[in-house]
Amino acid sequence: MTLDDLEALDEHATTMMERIKAAVFKPTGGKNAPTFNATQLAALCNRTHAAMLRLLDKAPEWGLATGVITDGQGRKLSAHRSFTLEETIDWVRHLGGLRYERRDDQPGAVVTVGFFKGGVGKTVIATSLAQGLSLKGYKVLAIDFDPQGSMTALLGGNPAAVEQEETFTPLALPPTSQGHRDSLIESIRPTYWSGVDVVAGSTGLFACEFYLPLRAMNAQAEGKRFNFLEVLQRALDPIRAEYDYIIIDTPPALSYTTMNAYWASDAILMPIVPEGLSLQSSVQFWNMFTELASTARQLSGDPKTYAWLGVVPSRVEAHKAPVQEMLKWIRMFYGEYVMTSEIPLTETIKTGSTEFATVYDIKKYVGNAKTYERARVAFDKLVTEVDLMTRRNLWHERIEEA
Ligand SMILES: Nc1ncnc2c1ncn2[C@@H]1O[C@H](COP(=O)(O)OP(=O)(O)OP(=O)(O)O)[C@@H](O)[C@H]1O
Ligand SMILES: [Mg+2]
Repeated sequence: MTLDDLEALDEHATTMMERIKAAVFKPTGGKNAPTFNATQLAALCNRTHAAMLRLLDKAPEWGLATGVITDGQGRKLSAHRSFTLEETIDWVRHLGGLRYERRDDQPGAVVTVGFFKGGVGKTVIATSLAQGLSLKGYKVLAIDFDPQGSMTALLGGNPAAVEQEETFTPLALPPTSQGHRDSLIESIRPTYWSGVDVVAGSTGLFACEFYLPLRAMNAQAEGKRFNFLEVLQRALDPIRAEYDYIIIDTPPALSYTTMNAYWASDAILMPIVPEGLSLQSSVQFWNMFTELASTARQLSGDPKTYAWLGVVPSRVEAHKAPVQEMLKWIRMFYGEYVMTSEIPLTETIKTGSTEFATVYDIKKYVGNAKTYERARVAFDKLVTEVDLMTRRNLWHERIEEA
């Protein structure tokens, strides 16, 4: 096999991926957001079905959608009401939904989903979290810090076509170089999922691993101060007023970019698969993390604190005895930090991922309804737990124990 062969392979794979996406996302060629019926809308608005129907009568007064589909002459086209995602979120926001109303002095929460072991479900969890929080009425920004761009793909983008200016990379470039920017605002793009915006990820992010330490070295040589860990944190400052949640997906590595994410975060969500090697990796992860953090502390002088840390068992096969044993170990290792939520290993996600779908994208599950329900309940619970921890520990809301 020559390099030319590999180049041909690269072209072939890219074309194939484009064709697959065109077939999967018919007829628009892009990802489509789900629609919601009146029962689903009522649940998201935390109302009974009957109460929701009464509220729907007020739709014209409030400038909200009635969900009744009519033709040009006002004739009903369908017996059932149907709401687009955008209309649904407008209703949820109007009625308050299940969200906390942040005060102006409470900045949006930055949550990093991270762990340096690959394939533990970080991206699936980060993306679902972003979607789930938006369904509560929150405004969410998703930041893809992984050069693989998987979160970007799940949010309907094409990582192969992402431009540098849509990513974090311009902030890492030296100030003298073309394309450098200090602000992240210009990198934000809307997604097919109304309520979730994205800063995309692409292979261009690898450049940050070169430029961030280079800038630190140059600054030191010139006797200037440049803390490579603070680049994202500074850029997020003006953005945190705009978004309730900023969810960062990270690659399976402890790199300069991932350390930027941890440094900018209010909270860390760490998915662990209940198996020996995953637990072993987690020990090394904290080892390296604390080493890097102490270097950073010396550089920055600011004491860094986190509002919460959540260890979430992921890809759990609960019916297996060794898995139950490993879950006990996880609790022994991580005690109070282990969340009550657990994400099961489920066909729903396996099947969904062939169509670049999360549990929240699925309109009609082809398969066992109970399997879907179980997955949906697990993700809803995780979203609610993340929100509760943030409300209690970051926004300091008094919430009575359920
Ligand atoms: N709970 C689950 N049940 C079934 N399949 C899952 C589950 N979580 C993730 N997967 C599948 O496992 C694979 C890896 O998931 P994902 O990409 O979220 O992991 P990751 O930790 O982000 O990986 P990486 O470290 O490469 O970024 C994907 O194919 C995904 O569809
Ligand atoms: Mg990932």
